[in-house]
Amino acid sequence: MKVISTTAEMREVTRALRRQGKTIAFVPTMGFLHEGHASLLRIARKRGDVLVLSIFVNPSQFGPNEDLDRYPRNLEGDLAIARRENVDLVFTPVPKEIYGPGYQTWIDVTEVSKHLCGASRPGHFRGVATVVAKLLNIVHADVAVFGEKDFQQLAVIRRMVEDLNMDTEIVGGALVREADGLAMSSRNVNLTPDHRRRALVLKRALDRAEDLAAAGERRVPVLLEAAREVLAAEHEGAVDYAEIRDAATLETIETLSGPAVFALAVRFGGTRLIDNTVLLNGGARVRGEKTRAPIAEATVTP
Ligand code: PAJ
Repeated sequence: MKVISTTAEMREVTRALRRQGKTIAFVPTMGFLHEGHASLLRIARKRGDVLVLSIFVNPSQFGPNEDLDRYPRNLEGDLAIARRENVDLVFTPVPKEIYGPGYQTWIDVTEVSKHLCGASRPGHFRGVATVVAKLLNIVHADVAVFGEKDFQQLAVIRRMVEDLNMDTEIVGGALVREADGLAMSSRNVNLTPDHRRRALVLKRALDRAEDLAAAGERRVPVLLEAAREVLAAEHEGAVDYAEIRDAATLETIETLSGPAVFALAVRFGGTRLIDNTVLLNGGARVRGEKTRAPIAEATVTP
């Protein structure tokens, strides 16, 4: 496994590999890797001859009052996981390798970005779309794998790749949870033990909506009211949003008639947690069943 920290070297190495006819599979991350990231590496490992991982805490996707300074880091631990998952190349640039002097180009995926996390984190998806486009170019990725944990991020990236005719196939990987149901996240380590216990309310709220949908409830306001009641019982958690949206466009819907996503963001102290579940048309899904989100099955969002 080779660790590369300059953009110039990564471009050169991956360009040469492509010339030799090798396909490149890529997993971009901000590090502090956990089993969610490892699951994406395993998907990507099967998709390409060469597996590239990037570790870059991207400053441009953090707002001025967000947790950039508190974002957890552990390069040695990350490299151990990368070795275990048979990563070939690790890209660990410093910010000035990505945003050099005079940098001024930004990608704005206008519609899909404006809802949910985009509404509460202005500029966040502009930073994500821009860094992902740059990373895909730098590593010459044939395939890139992203987690459904960040459902809106995946939708934004699919839209960008389609709109800009980018040559990378985007693949979604299922959300991975801790044994007790909390969605794995690098940020979980910043929760106090008390907040860590209380954070299970996100999964309980998702379960409540899933159960009602499985029992035949189609009215989105009814599903949301029931789930919000669960959230409201946990006074320590400040709900940023709890919304059921069309799974592809993230626009509001009134009834469950096609694939829909129930997405949540809740703050505990200074830590903001997100989670989601796909509510399927017909409510046929049994909780815990491995169901791929519809958005992840298509290579390109229509
Ligand atoms: P990061 O939060 O490190 O996540 C990297 C990738 O891992 C993302 O595709 C994310 O959706 C996925 N992931 C995180 N937790 C997961 C879980 N519990 N189950 C499945 N997948 C999970 O997302 C980012 O970094 C950044 O925004 C990035 C795309 C790297 C751009 O800076």
